[in-house]
Amino acid sequence: MGAAGVASFAGEIPVHYDRGLGPVLFHDFGDQMAVRAAAQAPSDVLELAGGTGIVSRRLRDRLPAAARLTVTDLAAPMLDVARSKFAAEEAVTFQTADACALPFADGAFDLAVCQFGVMFFPDKAKGFAEAFRVLRPGGRYLFSAWDAQPHNPMSIVTQRAVDRLLPDDPPRFYDVPFSYQEDLLDPTGRTVTISFRKLFLPQRFRARSNASSTTR
Ligand SMILES: C[S@@+](CC[C@H](N)C(=O)[O-])C[C@H]1O[C@@H](n2cnc3c(N)ncnc32)[C@H](O)[C@@H]1O
Repeated sequence: MGAAGVASFAGEIPVHYDRGLGPVLFHDFGDQMAVRAAAQAPSDVLELAGGTGIVSRRLRDRLPAAARLTVTDLAAPMLDVARSKFAAEEAVTFQTADACALPFADGAFDLAVCQFGVMFFPDKAKGFAEAFRVLRPGGRYLFSAWDAQPHNPMSIVTQRAVDRLLPDDPPRFYDVPFSYQEDLLDPTGRTVTISFRKLFLPQRFRARSNASSTTR
């Protein structure tokens, strides 16, 4: 999902992503991410590839009230949905931004957060280098990536379903999200401490009508 792929995050897709995929794939992990972010008691938080604001909403609910939150994504239509989840007085800033070329000063933040976004960045090393550039010394970058497809049965089941429905030209949309489990070690050349935590969060598939009515 480089620049061309992001173009597909337009029209009605952000709303369907938020209502349909959100509860199945992103809410529970977003809760986990927000808990970890709040534990850092940060004052300036940058969210990368924030999408429709699923993690952003959870961050705002858990971060200290005085903490500033800046939510970014490459796709403006995704951020439009994110913006709709906040009241003006919640002091959340939204900005379209490529995670590989961030429009922020060095050391502007003390915490960066990115849920299931890094695997989409076309230049992974640049994405990490940019995140670390905008962090203050001692700052932290919390990010998540899916494990490989064999560890995510949902992706196999749905890929098989679309393969059957579209045998001549099956969409390969899961090739990217489940492709990134390597090369995570210190791509910045800086001295950083990297720790990993593997999370198994079983997801329950609900009827489409139920999933679609969940808006948060
Ligand atoms: C799977 S979604 C994750 C969204 C959100 N973090 C969540 O948990 O719901 C991946 C997001 O990465 C964004 N993205 C892809 N390439 C990007 C880039 N180079 N810079 C910033 N965002 C990017 C997409 O627009 C999309 O919103």
